[in-house]
Amino acid sequence: MTFLDQMKKRRSIYSIGKNVKLDQAEIEQIIKDAVKFSPSSFNSQTSRVVILFGQSHDTFWHIVRETLRDLVSADAFEATNNKINAFAAGYGTALFYEDQDVVKSMQEQFALYADNFPVWSEHSSAIAQFATWTALAEVNIGASLQHYNPIIDEEVARTFDIPPSWKLRAQLVFGSIEAPAGEKTFIDDAERFKTFT
Ligand SMILES: Cc1cc2nc3c(=O)[nH]c(=O)nc-3n(C[C@H](O)[C@H](O)[C@H](O)COP(=O)(O)O)c2cc1C
Repeated sequence: MTFLDQMKKRRSIYSIGKNVKLDQAEIEQIIKDAVKFSPSSFNSQTSRVVILFGQSHDTFWHIVRETLRDLVSADAFEATNNKINAFAAGYGTALFYEDQDVVKSMQEQFALYADNFPVWSEHSSAIAQFATWTALAEVNIGASLQHYNPIIDEEVARTFDIPPSWKLRAQLVFGSIEAPAGEKTFIDDAERFKTFT
């Protein structure tokens, strides 16, 4: 498969399970490599990732559930709870952080670009998220990207001993593909691209 084929294979998979063929060490290595070999501005390597399996994955989704229980109306909570059950049914979760200490240090070192480093940090995180998501798809592990930050940040930091400078940006929840992705539509290329020769 070409790289573009791998990209096309990556989808948001919401029906995930624990019937994963790879062992945890193999998945951990795929995530580490995907993040490690993703580019970052000035090679600043601001991305940090916390990989959760088993009990830790369950604990994470418990935190999300209980945080939302306090914030969402009783009526709306049923749908929220069902969604969280679907994520908890997965095999693991990768929490994507950006280390703000490194961002600040880059701003100090390269004052001319100071305003850009927080933006580039976000770009780097997005690239790392995409690379991880696509690398997992390559080995037939389905995933979806979630954003329960910032409401869960404090409790997650306490539970998993996260350094204060790490800022949570996204959660990639993954597992075996129990149902295919929904249909995806695309806007016209003419709206998105301009080519000049
Ligand atoms: C920056 C970004 C943020 C997203 N946030 C969420 C999210 O919070 N929850 C979710 O279920 N999907 C989220 N998604 C997934 C998109 O809805 C999904 O990628 C898009 O509809 C295209 O579908 P596909 O992933 O199957 O190609 C996000 C995707 C991106 C790129």
